[in-house]
Amino acid sequence: TCGSKVAATVFRYGLFKDKVAIVTGGGTGIGKAITKELLLLGCNVMIASRNGNRLEKGANEITEWLKGTNDRARLETLPCNIRQEAEVQNLMTHTLERFGQIDFVVNNGGGQFVSGAEDIRLKGWNAVVETNLTGTFLMCREVYRHWMKDRGGAIVNIIANMWKGFPRMCHTGAARAGVDNLTKSLALEWVHNGVRINSVAPGSSIYSETAAANYGDLNIFEENRKTVPYHRLGTVEEVSSVVCFLLSPGATFITGETVRVDAGQSHYACPTLKIPFHNKMPPYSWQTDASGAED
Ligand code: ADE
Repeated sequence: TCGSKVAATVFRYGLFKDKVAIVTGGGTGIGKAITKELLLLGCNVMIASRNGNRLEKGANEITEWLKGTNDRARLETLPCNIRQEAEVQNLMTHTLERFGQIDFVVNNGGGQFVSGAEDIRLKGWNAVVETNLTGTFLMCREVYRHWMKDRGGAIVNIIANMWKGFPRMCHTGAARAGVDNLTKSLALEWVHNGVRINSVAPGSSIYSETAAANYGDLNIFEENRKTVPYHRLGTVEEVSSVVCFLLSPGATFITGETVRVDAGQSHYACPTLKIPFHNKMPPYSWQTDASGAED
C-alpha cells in the first residue's frame, strides 16, 4: 500500500547472497570491478571472456583480493567468445551446471579500435558489431531461453558515451546505440516474464589500466579529463556501484533505462563555455580526501 511506514533499506552486505551472475569481460577493467563488487555483496560470479589467459590472470587477482574480505561467494571462469552462438549456449549450460541458477547477466565484454570510417575494413566492422551488439543479443537471448523466461532475472548491458556520435570509432558507436535500443525492446518484450533489463553508459573519462593499455600512446585520459565537468576522471568502482544498484531490489521499478555514468560529460557540448575549476563534487569511491580534481 502507499504510504508504507516499513523501516527498511536494500543497501547492505550480503544483498546478493546465494545469487548467481555471469559477467562477460569480467577479468579486466570495468568488468573486473563489477565482479569484485558482486562478490563482496555475496553473489557467486561466472566470468567469461574470449581470451582465456587474461581471464585466468584476472580471476587469480580477484581470488587473491577476495581472501581478505571474509566472504564465501564463489568465482568461476569459462572462456567464451560471445560472437559464437554455440559458445554462448555452452556458457549458459555450464553456469547452470556449476551454480544451478542465473539471476543476473552483465554484458560488459566488448571491444573496438580507433580508425577513420574510410579505413575500416568489412572484417573489422563486423568484428566490432558482432562483439558489442550481436554478442550482447546472443547473451540476452540465451539466458532468457535457458533460465529467465520461466524465472525472471535482471540484465545490465554496458555501452558507451556515443550519444553525440563517435567519430573515428563509428563501428562501436553504431553497435552501442544498437544495444541501447535493444535494451528497450527486450525490457518490454520480457516484462511479463519478470526480466528487467537496463544499460549503463560509462563516459570516456572512466580510467582503467586495461583501457589505458589498449589505447596506448593516445593518452586518451589526459585529453578526456578536460571534457569532464567534474575536472577529474571516473573510476571503475563508480560504474560497478551503478550496475549493482540496477541489479538490486533497489531498482525493481526500473527497466528499459540507460544510466549515464559520465559526470555530465555527454551533456557538455560547448567546451568554450568554461566550467570553473572546482573540487566540490564528491570524491570517488573510498577516496577519503577531496583531491580528485586536478587542474
Ligand atoms: N571481450 C572482448 N571481446 C570478447 C568476445 N568476443 N567474447 C567475450 N568477451 C570478449
